[in-house]
Amino acid sequence: MTRPATDTTPLLQADQLTRHYEVSRGWFSPKATVRALDGVSFRLEAGRTLAVVGESGCGKSTLARALTLIETPTSGQLRIRGQDTAGPHTRAERQALRREVQMVFQNPYAALNPRKTIAATLAEPLLINTRLSAAERQARVAALAAQVGLRPEHLRRYPHMFSGGQRQRIAIARAMVLQPGIVVADEPTSALDLSIQAQILNLFMDLQQAFGTGYVFISHNLSVVEHVADDVMVMYLGRVVEHGSKQRIFAQPRHPYTQALISATPALRAADRRVRIPIHGELPSPLRPPSGCAFHQRCALAIPRCAEQRPALREIDGRLVACDVL
Ligand SMILES: Nc1ncnc2c1ncn2[C@@H]1O[C@H](COP(=O)(O)OP(=O)(O)OP(=O)(O)O)[C@@H](O)[C@H]1O
Ligand SMILES: [Mg+2]
Repeated sequence: MTRPATDTTPLLQADQLTRHYEVSRGWFSPKATVRALDGVSFRLEAGRTLAVVGESGCGKSTLARALTLIETPTSGQLRIRGQDTAGPHTRAERQALRREVQMVFQNPYAALNPRKTIAATLAEPLLINTRLSAAERQARVAALAAQVGLRPEHLRRYPHMFSGGQRQRIAIARAMVLQPGIVVADEPTSALDLSIQAQILNLFMDLQQAFGTGYVFISHNLSVVEHVADDVMVMYLGRVVEHGSKQRIFAQPRHPYTQALISATPALRAADRRVRIPIHGELPSPLRPPSGCAFHQRCALAIPRCAEQRPALREIDGRLVACDVL
């Protein structure tokens, strides 16, 4: 096995994580490559929340699938508690790694088996992964159900008998039942009513307090991110354009793309009367990303050099920014 984790080992560490897809463009055209995730690096500590934001198609779900070991990265390294996930693992080691990262999806209905009661759904991971007795499993499920706000009689019901918010509570309980170190949540409140969204966000935060779970929280909604995040990573076409503490990034976004995203969120704009900065044009095709800085065609600050040279992430004002004009 790899070296033991020390106290300073992050829970999750991604180094230049990359996932490319080969896509067909028709019978006579050569295959093209979508650089869905293109060299993303970060660390996540226990009890902390990293929010990942960016427009549709920027690679957020691709990152989620790589982090939860659903997909193998094309290149780069992913370590969980210091262990390289690509290492030569036995089945048992691989299973243990998978247990450490659980996922919560946008649509909880798709994640729950319609033919199983909630009790059976929540007990299943314990049955497969632990040696707990039936009584111990039942006790664990009952305690967790109460913790996520379900009543004892709910455990005998089936998924279709619940509202969307309750179903998301069940999906969160299912993700938490093995007490993973990390939960990756991909737009977990985007399908819910506004009033329910706040309850689910608070539930996430309560569970984090109770278990010390590290969260990778994916959302295109910056008001949600403002509520839950410790750190924020802004992505554009598969790459990170700004990454730092929520306080710094929300108080003073530096990358022109982050500035535009934050200025487009009404609640945040009202707080400090920030003027709206428009983003011109559409997100470019990931099959033909622009040369140089991928954002240059839509950027108000762009100078000719931006079309030629891809900016590296560098430290500006206590966070990382990929912009050469600043
Ligand atoms: N299996 C796949 N095969 C080919 N291309 C893919 C595949 N999965 C994702 N892509 C492409 O990779 C890019 C990133 O997709 P991804 O789903 O990660 O974006 P996203 O940020 O999650 O978007 P959204 O906010 O809409 O959920 C997109 O251009 C998408 O079309
Ligand atoms: Mg997505």
